[in-house]
Amino acid sequence: MATISTTDYLLDQAKRRLTPTLNNLPLGPIERRLNNREWPQFTLAEPPAGSGLKPVMGDAGLPVLGHMIEAFRGGPEYVLHVYRKYGPVHYAYSPALSSVSALGPDATQAVFSNKNKDYSQKGWHPVIGPFFNRGLMMLDFEEHMFHRRIMQEAFTRTRLSGYVEHIDKVASKVVADDWVANDPRFLLHPALKELTLDIASVVFMGHEPGTDHDLVTKVNEAFTVTTRAGGAIIRTSVPPFKWWRGLQARKVLENYFEERVKERRKAEGTDMLTVLCHTADEDGNSFSDDDIVNHMIFLMMAAHDTSTSTLTTMGYHLAANPEWQERCRDESSRLGDGPLDIEALEKLETLDLVINESLRLVTPLPFNVRQAVRDTDLLGYYIPAGTNIVTWPGMNHRLPELWTDPDKFDPDRFAEPRSEHKRHRYAFAPFGGGAHKCIGMVFGQLEIKTVMHRLLRKYRLELPRPGYTPQYDYAGMPVPMDGMPIVLRPLH
Ligand code: HEM
Repeated sequence: MATISTTDYLLDQAKRRLTPTLNNLPLGPIERRLNNREWPQFTLAEPPAGSGLKPVMGDAGLPVLGHMIEAFRGGPEYVLHVYRKYGPVHYAYSPALSSVSALGPDATQAVFSNKNKDYSQKGWHPVIGPFFNRGLMMLDFEEHMFHRRIMQEAFTRTRLSGYVEHIDKVASKVVADDWVANDPRFLLHPALKELTLDIASVVFMGHEPGTDHDLVTKVNEAFTVTTRAGGAIIRTSVPPFKWWRGLQARKVLENYFEERVKERRKAEGTDMLTVLCHTADEDGNSFSDDDIVNHMIFLMMAAHDTSTSTLTTMGYHLAANPEWQERCRDESSRLGDGPLDIEALEKLETLDLVINESLRLVTPLPFNVRQAVRDTDLLGYYIPAGTNIVTWPGMNHRLPELWTDPDKFDPDRFAEPRSEHKRHRYAFAPFGGGAHKCIGMVFGQLEIKTVMHRLLRKYRLELPRPGYTPQYDYAGMPVPMDGMPIVLRPLH
């Protein structure tokens, strides 16, 4: 029977509270003052004479820090404040990434659906480029389409069926054997992170469940370091700091996948790595070994924190809203405990509503980054070539002009006849949009449903205390700062 050691628990909590970040330092009063302060505005660039375009206005915030305190602590709330104050297009200097924020659904649409191909993925490069070099999201235009067409073959319904089988085996076992019941020290977020990594070792890397333990652990650790490195404060390779560690860890991943590709080229299997080794588009184009290494490293990152975040948010809201938990469980009970397939998962329609509402309230990738490849016009504002542009679906998801009572957990807003997500084409875009829209959307939804179905069949989820609400750190993907304690009460 799995247990939690008090020492481990206390050490974990101490680390969470005492590692200084912009979120756990007592900066509340400073944050409020910064939010109310009038910053001197300047023009990003004068529009060409006679163009009829307006200049983008912006500011620099605090010296050195820019607006990092407000953005990292407030997340979408802070961006909403910027939208209300300055409108849909506003520039901010930042030591992390100076950029124009393109806010509201119209601005999101103008960037995502841009027919002129004015916006490149190069905006992502300073954020995560060295760690996810030549991943699909980092490629542009024709080259991107070429790679996406080949990769699409790994996401057909037949392929997805194969992945679901693997996901279900791992999820059923971990939830039943490893998770600790009746213990308020159980933290849902790290437990889910570990589970989705276990799933990845089988579904993405092709290891048999429970085998190659040391190798899988080493790769998973390297993967975690690589993923975190994008949030480094010292953004250059200086040992022993985060950026440097990320590059070292990326090398470990490259070596591992190079070896594995050689092996899987000759093998058969329904895991994603083996599929990518054998897949070709309609014209017979396939990936080189290097392509597969780069794509696998990116795919693991793209799939991992996003699904973990969504499941964590769902866990909280289902615990806080027992009536929704019961609705989901009733549907799951109708499926029973047999092996899952896509058809079965499609019947869990209430869970679809809860997934959407969780993605709306805590959007795992709340913003998307682009770079203007030429001088262009964004909603009538002049954008010079080379400007970084950030769209904010995570903020659009909170707009009262699109969503009724936006802070309320209300999954029925996604059901007929309300269908609030249809009020604008880009009212709801947790998976992005346009040419780079998430290729793993259905995979992610199937994984989330599988894990949640298994969880709801086994436990009732309860809050650690009445009225508990998690606090989020927005310095990257949103994560609950305390790890999200949830009590699992066995049903039988
Ligand atoms: C809840 C889960 C997920 C969320 C919220 C999510 C979100 C996103 C978003 C917003 C983008 C667009 C980024 C941009 O426009 O710059 C994206 C792209 C991508 N996602 Fe996901 N994702 C999820 C799960 C997954 C999974 C499970 C996989 C793989 C199995 C995956 C693979 C990718 C890839 C490869 C791209 C790049 C697509 C391209 O550039 O053509 N994602 N994702």
